[in-house]
Amino acid sequence: MENKLESARARINAVDKEIARLWAERMAAVKDVSDYKKEQGIAVFDASRESELISRNLGFVPEELAGYYIQFMNGVLAASRQYQRDMLSKPADMLTVSLGDRSYDILIRRGSLSHASEFMDLSRKVLIVTDDGVPREYAEAVASQCREAYISTLPHGEKTKCLESFRQLLSEMLEHKFTRQDCVVAVGGGVIGDLAGFAASAYMRGIDFYNIPTTTLSQIDSSIGGKVAIDFDSYKNTVGAFWQPKFVLIDPDTLKTLDRRQYSCGLAEAVKMSLTSDAGLFELFESGDIDSNLDEIIRRSLSIKKSVVEQDEKETGLRKILNFGHTIGHGIETAENGRLMHGECVALGMLPMCSPEVRKRLKAVLKNLGLPTAITADPSAVKSAMTHDKKSSKSGVTVVRVEKPGEFALENIDFEELFRRFDSCLQEESL
Ligand SMILES: NC(=O)c1ccc[n+]([C@@H]2O[C@H](COP(=O)([O-])OP(=O)(O)OC[C@H]3O[C@@H](n4cnc5c(N)ncnc54)[C@H](O)[C@@H]3O)[C@@H](O)[C@H]2O)c1
Repeated sequence: MENKLESARARINAVDKEIARLWAERMAAVKDVSDYKKEQGIAVFDASRESELISRNLGFVPEELAGYYIQFMNGVLAASRQYQRDMLSKPADMLTVSLGDRSYDILIRRGSLSHASEFMDLSRKVLIVTDDGVPREYAEAVASQCREAYISTLPHGEKTKCLESFRQLLSEMLEHKFTRQDCVVAVGGGVIGDLAGFAASAYMRGIDFYNIPTTTLSQIDSSIGGKVAIDFDSYKNTVGAFWQPKFVLIDPDTLKTLDRRQYSCGLAEAVKMSLTSDAGLFELFESGDIDSNLDEIIRRSLSIKKSVVEQDEKETGLRKILNFGHTIGHGIETAENGRLMHGECVALGMLPMCSPEVRKRLKAVLKNLGLPTAITADPSAVKSAMTHDKKSSKSGVTVVRVEKPGEFALENIDFEELFRRFDSCLQEESL
């Protein structure tokens, strides 16, 4: 009985694999047709061909499956149409996060801040959320493009990601009689994005949210993926939701006003993504010329995050690779007690999780970015913080290891093994 089940499943798996291969081939042909028609100035969509296409092949399908086949083909054709539409309208500097009806675009373009209304529906009530460390003109540039804008400026810093600020944003929306048709726009770093997104997710059970990230961290990472939250009872990101933005607008020009230390800290997360998923991006960091490659660094980092989010929206598996360097990094952050910033701790946290060869190369990259390369925190304080981390279980943790740039392995290890790797990295440093 079991054998029968297994062999039927094996047949399904083999067919699914073949369908995936054939489907990719079909989409490549769809692209060729689309490119040709565009070149010739012919209309790309042809509805009559679609119905003809389904009926032509119905003969190959057993009668009792005909209805299911039509349903299947309608799905295939809808995906082709969407693909063609995306190719027709999408500028080269736009990426799409494909999450079915929660899909959205990301624009990476210098100077785009003053063209936000071309991409976002701002002809309604808009709550623009920012903080007092973000140059005022950024929020004002967006406000000037809205029909009815309200700017809410909160104090800068992680402390703002709290229940009180969340309450304040909801009150402001209520006071100005926001309805479900109105929206929230975040203009700031990860703190503002997480908080404003959470307020949008909760107000009237969820209204549209747009994100305009203005720090390196938020431009390469936190603005996409839909994780929105506040800190609660001194625990980070404990209360929140998954709420995808409707559009993300990235204007790298806004980074010109960002403090250099913040700038480098955000890039530590891009280095992290390059190590697990894009050897070419890591080489770009190794080339040393960061500022002139910045747009490319943002685009490639976002492409990695986008693909992780598309495969694992709710963080059940693959999304864990984004935590590379974070287990030890969080331990260092706690032990350093505010002396080091998050990105600096992540930079250090990656070192013990790489092979010695990669570690050597990584240190050179971190040094060039002005990030620390040696762990100076008290080792016992780091270890104690790691065992008390809310993400670790009694028996151990899931960690990400990198033996070669662009490749990773997820491993479940106990604390003994984790501490051994940490200690051996420290010893190597002291040699
Ligand atoms: N949602 C996610 O997936 C995700 C991922 C990673 C991190 N995060 C969160 O992101 C937050 C950290 O974000 P961050 O590093 O952007 O910090 P941040 O939002 O605190 O911004 C850092 C500082 O830069 C200032 N600033 C922002 N833009 C500026 C600009 N263009 N010019 C000058 N100053 C500017 C801000 O006022 C602030 O003082 C954390 O709360 C973290 O939990 C979220």
